[in-house]
Amino acid sequence: MATKGNKDGVQWVVPDPKRENWYWPSDALRQHAWVSDPKIYDQAKADPLAFWAKQAEGITWFQKWSKVYEDEPFAYKWFVGGKLNLSYNSLDRHVEAGRGDRVALIWEPEPLSEPHRTMTYKQLLEEVGRFANALKALGVRKGDRVGIYLPMIPEAVVAMQACARIGAPHTVVFSAFSAESLRDRLVDSGAKVLITADGYWRRGKAIDLKPQADQALPGTQVSKVVVVRRMGQEIPWDAQRDVWYHEITKGQPTECKPEPMDAEDLAFILYTSGTTGKPKGVMHTTGGYAVQVYTTAKWDFNLHEDDVHFCTADVGWITGHSYVNYGPLMNGVASLVYEGTPDFPDFGRMWQIVEKHKVTVYYTAPTAIRMHIKWGDEWPKKYNLNSLRVLGSVGEPINEEAWLWYFHLVGGKRCPIIDTWWQTETGATCVQALPGVGPFVPTVAGRPFPGIRARIVDASGQPVKAGEGGYLVLEPPFPPALLRGLYGDPEKFRATYFGEFGPKVYFTKDGSRMDEMGNIRVTGRVDDVMNVAGHRLATAEVEDALAQHPAVSEVAVVSKPDEIKGEVPVAFVLLKKGFQASEDLKKDLIKTVDKIIGPTARPSSIYFSEDVPKTRSGKIMRRVLKALVRGEAVGDITTLRNPECVEDLKRLVGYKG
Ligand code: WT7
Repeated sequence: MATKGNKDGVQWVVPDPKRENWYWPSDALRQHAWVSDPKIYDQAKADPLAFWAKQAEGITWFQKWSKVYEDEPFAYKWFVGGKLNLSYNSLDRHVEAGRGDRVALIWEPEPLSEPHRTMTYKQLLEEVGRFANALKALGVRKGDRVGIYLPMIPEAVVAMQACARIGAPHTVVFSAFSAESLRDRLVDSGAKVLITADGYWRRGKAIDLKPQADQALPGTQVSKVVVVRRMGQEIPWDAQRDVWYHEITKGQPTECKPEPMDAEDLAFILYTSGTTGKPKGVMHTTGGYAVQVYTTAKWDFNLHEDDVHFCTADVGWITGHSYVNYGPLMNGVASLVYEGTPDFPDFGRMWQIVEKHKVTVYYTAPTAIRMHIKWGDEWPKKYNLNSLRVLGSVGEPINEEAWLWYFHLVGGKRCPIIDTWWQTETGATCVQALPGVGPFVPTVAGRPFPGIRARIVDASGQPVKAGEGGYLVLEPPFPPALLRGLYGDPEKFRATYFGEFGPKVYFTKDGSRMDEMGNIRVTGRVDDVMNVAGHRLATAEVEDALAQHPAVSEVAVVSKPDEIKGEVPVAFVLLKKGFQASEDLKKDLIKTVDKIIGPTARPSSIYFSEDVPKTRSGKIMRRVLKALVRGEAVGDITTLRNPECVEDLKRLVGYKG
């Protein structure tokens, strides 16, 4: 039985006596954990439907399902006939159970001079009720799509919850996305209302949002724009179309009956980029999403009601949907929302927040950790981080250097690192170690979550042996939260995910390998495939090989046309501290590739670079590198997190585009 006990400074992990950098849960962690008996994996494997049905009983249903799972090709369904509401499960449930006075949201504004805000479950429920009623008054009905273009302010969570309450699928667009990106998503989803704000703080600067929102609207079906007043700055206004959030919510009753949603009713659409240019509208339905997000949030992070959960992702990404909003709230814990950037006013900001609010769970991305490494060890050292219990990682493979830094400097060698593999499409985490079970090993995510069937196969769909590289696939019963479609494009849905191995095998597009214990190491996307002298080769495979060299901190590989071989790989290598770029090192790297894959995979050039272009969620934009090495137009780089590195790279590769 799991007990509470977020006591400061507890030793939550112990080192493996034989294997360097392997850790296991300590007795304290096993006692605190919801799950500490590894038998759960076999039990769930024997009967995954019974496993998920049991987890589903952990949330509240207005009507119980009649069938746990239906295995139609391209139309798998979970909890058929069940009725529930995400907002009811996030809010009302806790208030009705007498936990209404517990803190639901802690909002930390960027300016240090501004006080933080907290909202209890009762207050949040009332605010959501008022806004849900206001949306209804604007004509929003069940099934209508609502666009949300908000910064990290409490109203972002309120807006998502209000949509969920009335059954209006939200489509959240990251506030740093351009007007054009916003327009594409509004057009594709057919949203009729947009919720935005008069701006926000970022690195000490007041940022506009309303002009971009206005610019996005022509050609969309949006007829009303709700504006949250965050800054009080002057903004353009259309009196016919625009309404203030605080005006339309004033005088609304706090009570709003949660819409009973069918388990398979659309909960939200979230756009994500594929290999092609146009973003795809990933569709998540209500029942399976609720169950998997609730269960994974609880088990991955061992959530108990005295927890303070700080997921640093923006609500514009799936991580924010599932682990800032729905997951923590369904579990009744306090979720921390931070408005600003980690480097403002200085590099210690995140640790200052952890200390101030006694954060117990910290969930971030490897790319962020590598930034902290660059900023220096002194920053986390300035703060008391003893409240931390679990550290999470998400978004990309975590390199060993980042893992160890996170473990030592942030976790004080006390906390497990839960490296969670999942995707926008899976809605919730799928592969990770459970805190009470372990092991915690750098660059290894862990086992598929109980009840999830993941396998590693070769190009013909046959399982590969332990230790061998292959493709990560999911098999039925599919994870309850797996996407149910791409909005308005059933063909693309089938072709993208089930085109490779057939309708019963969901292709993740990730390369990975599994050890004898069943722990999975995800090496990265494989959908950038090359053909080198007749050999099919994934850029990720070459990256994986190079990354095994001790000097390599990060690496990106792209393909370049070659007269004789068709295509050849080109590598961009970022070195670990203490290593110098040299011709000898290049030769050594090539030897590594020869050894791991073979000479066909040898990069034709290796560039030692300071940085590589990345999206805001930390993904390497290989498209840009590809254009650079091919001398092609680099295209739009405005959505990059670090567009400035492109100029340096141009010089490095002798770009004459
Ligand atoms: C892709 C999905 C899931 C929320 C954020 C990203 C990569 C994600 C890990 C991890 C190795 C990971 C995969 C995946 N990825 N987590 N722990 N280890 N790779 O969501 O933008 O949909 O990207 O991110 O390549 O396919 P996303």
